[in-house]
Amino acid sequence: MTLELNDMQGLLIRGFGNLPSAQYVLLRFSDFTGGKQYLRELLPAITPATDKPDEQAVQVALTYAGFSFLQLPAEGLASFSREFREGMTESHRQFILGDNGENAPDNWAWGNPAHDEIHLLLIIYAKDESTLAEKLAVEKNRAESYGVLELHTLPTGLLQDHKEHFGFRDDISRPIIEELVDNVEKKPGVTFPAGEFIMGYKNLYDEYAPAPSIPSSKDVLNVLPVSADLPDRKDFGKNGTYLVYRQMEQDVFGFWEYLKGASKDNSEAVSLASKMVGRWPDGSPLTLTPEKPDPSLSTANGFGFWNEDKAGLKCPIGAHIRRTNPRDHLVTERTQKDSLEMAAKHRMLRKGRPYGTPVSERLVPEEILGLPRDDEKRGLHFLCLVTDIRRQFEFVQNNWVNFHKFGGLDQDADPIIGNHYKSDIVVSDEFSIPAYPVKRKLKNLPNFTTIKGGGYFFFPGLRALHYLANHE
Ligand code: HEM
Repeated sequence: MTLELNDMQGLLIRGFGNLPSAQYVLLRFSDFTGGKQYLRELLPAITPATDKPDEQAVQVALTYAGFSFLQLPAEGLASFSREFREGMTESHRQFILGDNGENAPDNWAWGNPAHDEIHLLLIIYAKDESTLAEKLAVEKNRAESYGVLELHTLPTGLLQDHKEHFGFRDDISRPIIEELVDNVEKKPGVTFPAGEFIMGYKNLYDEYAPAPSIPSSKDVLNVLPVSADLPDRKDFGKNGTYLVYRQMEQDVFGFWEYLKGASKDNSEAVSLASKMVGRWPDGSPLTLTPEKPDPSLSTANGFGFWNEDKAGLKCPIGAHIRRTNPRDHLVTERTQKDSLEMAAKHRMLRKGRPYGTPVSERLVPEEILGLPRDDEKRGLHFLCLVTDIRRQFEFVQNNWVNFHKFGGLDQDADPIIGNHYKSDIVVSDEFSIPAYPVKRKLKNLPNFTTIKGGGYFFFPGLRALHYLANHE
């Protein structure tokens, strides 16, 4: 099935890497009519997937509270997934996501509905800072003139060589959407049917991804397509998807100080950090080059763990990339094929960007290790697009990132993003490094990342936005 790119927002198929400046603006409607008028005006400014902009781009997503405020019909509201309706900070979700202790929503700067109910996320990308400032002024004016209140503006900044703040190359492993590539050779775990990430298309179960819909009678202007599997309903989800947003502050100095304390020299600290990530700082995967980085492999992604590294001697079972995508080796599955198929059902399209000033421009770990601590706030605006928040993002966060017994481990969580703590029943602040003849265990890991805000958004197709802006 061909993708309706003209009805999709561009972020679904690209990352706007050529537009390095960006800001995320969180907004709230203040009146129903003004909110709809605002959306009507905003619509032509939104960048569809058919455009390849080289100046600026605007994307928009709404929360459940936003759709309610604009009075999407009750049947439509009820058809969103439970996790979207309940929101990221609902108490059961906090438990699933591991948002307790210092990560609890009470400590967030935004996203806790007790403090500020967010309705809308506007993402603005631009080719440079001055174009961004101009575009932001236009969008802020537009919002203000319709009584749409600006709650938070969150800056971003791409780092050198695609790095994240700890100093590792990011954004290497990406699912390939089969419908976007001509004559693609389908490969489990590598290529994916669009329905995993975009609603209105078949997913890995050969089903249409569950999507919000409304009774056909409520689409008086006949804007929406008929739902593919519910003939008496209109598909509000088509060409849209869910957007998960987590603002994660990174304690870069804490991370490298901990590693320095666990190592005899800088070179060992860098190897231990790489064991935690599963790739060397330049991106080369430990599974393919376990002893030292190999720049020729810095974007290599065609590897598995089953044949190469079942015991985790090269890339530890609990490394960040192995937990978030165990590929062909899930200890719970009996065959390589089962593992691959199972792991594939929990992938995400990651679209986040770093924020804050980096500790150094080049972010070379050996340099970072010699720098004095500063008070700058920095981290990652983690964003991912998924058609099923529970099966994709929450599953990974709950069963793989934070589960202390993942893969036969006992007292470990994801070393770089996991919630590390000790309670009467759970210890999750260790990191096991399989090695022969003696394995190594790092203990008392502090949290290297802390959640500072977050929310579940829906990233609608353009017809859905048109419907929302015009329905009675
Ligand atoms: C500050 C927070 C984070 C940092 C610094 C970080 C860093 C990294 C790095 C350096 C990589 C390797 C590059 C690549 O394979 O593309 C990576 C991969 C990945 N991360 Fe994260 N990450 C963070 C948060 C998260 C979160 C919250 C999730 C999801 C729950 C996540 C899921 C993934 C996935 C799925 C991969 C690709 C694994 C693979 O396919 O091999 N990350 N991350």
